[in-house]
Amino acid sequence: MSQGGTLLQAFQRTVSQLDGAYGTVVMDRRDPQRLIAARSGSPLVIGLGIGENFLASDQLALLSVTRRFIFLEEGDVAEITRREVNICNLQGEPVNREIHESSLEHDAADKGQFRHYMQKEVFEQPSAIINTLEGRIDNDSVRVDSIGHGASDILARAEHIQIIACGTSYNAGYVAKYWFESIAGISCDVEIASEFRYRNFVTRPNSLLITLSQSGETADTLAALRLAKERGFMAAMTVCNVAGSSLVRESDLAFMTRAGAEIGVASTKAFTTQLAALLMLVTAVGKIKGHVDRDQEAKIVQALHRLPNDIEQALVLDKQIELLAEDFADKHHALFLGRGEFYPIAMESALKLKEISYIHAEAYAAGELKHGPLALIDADMPVIVIAPNNELLEKLKSNIEEVRARGGQLYVFADKEAGFENTDGMSIIAMPHVDAVSAPIFYTIPMQLLSYHVALIKGTDVDQPRNLAKAVTVE
Ligand code: AGP
Repeated sequence: MSQGGTLLQAFQRTVSQLDGAYGTVVMDRRDPQRLIAARSGSPLVIGLGIGENFLASDQLALLSVTRRFIFLEEGDVAEITRREVNICNLQGEPVNREIHESSLEHDAADKGQFRHYMQKEVFEQPSAIINTLEGRIDNDSVRVDSIGHGASDILARAEHIQIIACGTSYNAGYVAKYWFESIAGISCDVEIASEFRYRNFVTRPNSLLITLSQSGETADTLAALRLAKERGFMAAMTVCNVAGSSLVRESDLAFMTRAGAEIGVASTKAFTTQLAALLMLVTAVGKIKGHVDRDQEAKIVQALHRLPNDIEQALVLDKQIELLAEDFADKHHALFLGRGEFYPIAMESALKLKEISYIHAEAYAAGELKHGPLALIDADMPVIVIAPNNELLEKLKSNIEEVRARGGQLYVFADKEAGFENTDGMSIIAMPHVDAVSAPIFYTIPMQLLSYHVALIKGTDVDQPRNLAKAVTVE
């Protein structure tokens, strides 16, 4: 400011010299009625009131005062007073940004009767799934037009799917890879965003990029999307939970998950709603490509209709799992096993346990055990197995025998019709029988409950685990 001009001009000169990610707000104490804000990389949102305006990094922080928001974009500089909001670019030219009306409830950030946000969010899953399915499926078919404007054309042209995401969203993408290939008959790769963005990849012809993200602001995923746009992808779609987020704004198509606000750092309902949305998307692609016939489509859609009720049944296991969790509290390591699309569910289960209970947990595709991890098995290493009654059950049973023979302590979450019995060294948690196609979503629930109860016993900070942030907006 000593070089002259207004605070806005001084700030514009400053941000054009800044490097890295920031969402920043400044005020001149001699003129406290005026705020200047800029963003690069990190999110920044303006809340519009009557005779008052607000700034925050997330709309959730402002729901108690307004539902009307402007999401600032990269390079935007905003000048805000009680009555006015003016936005310009770094050159000082005015820019127009749309006003979004948030559909989130004002008590979305309330724990209600629950002890933790995570617990609340686990129990909200039946309704979150209902919201995600609403208007997108009929009795026995998926409504392709509900995926978004131009979706049927984009999906028809796609010859390959590339999924990019981080953390839990990556695990959802991994399940979708199995579904895209087995149900829709289209090749699909899934990759962690921080790897994808820094390697020399080959773009396949007519490749559709799908980013998955709860927040829509994950720095690596966003960078991967921007890179993919430069590198010849046919189109970019996002499956996302936050309207108006950067991924939604910068993608050609946005398929929203409608999980509602997820506040616990450990992602739960965002994951299962991502899977529900992805299953609809996979079915739509299969239908468009003639790989899913009417009969198969009806079966998948009926399984989706039953899913909220199935999840209610899984939540009934809460008390039983609370007791089981006591066995884990003094353990330092745990191994999760699954096969097929249950391998990424094992990955997600291990991620949940490690992030909130700080127990080192790993997931392995059960068939890979004998290639190394079998050496770890002893009485101090609980082995959790996800055992639905599917075509891989017999293979999984032999993997379970490999662990048993080496004195491992097994906890098998098994379909009650899968023929397992409690024996020495093996506890069976009998699960209701559900449709094979939606079973990965269903089996996620007891795993979330297990990590929640283990964390409670260990006394860790369930909603805000150490060293972690809800939205990872920096690299
Ligand atoms: C999982 O419980 C974590 N919160 C984390 O792995 C998260 O899924 C990851 O950071 C990606 O976030 P996003 O879905 O918002 O992109």
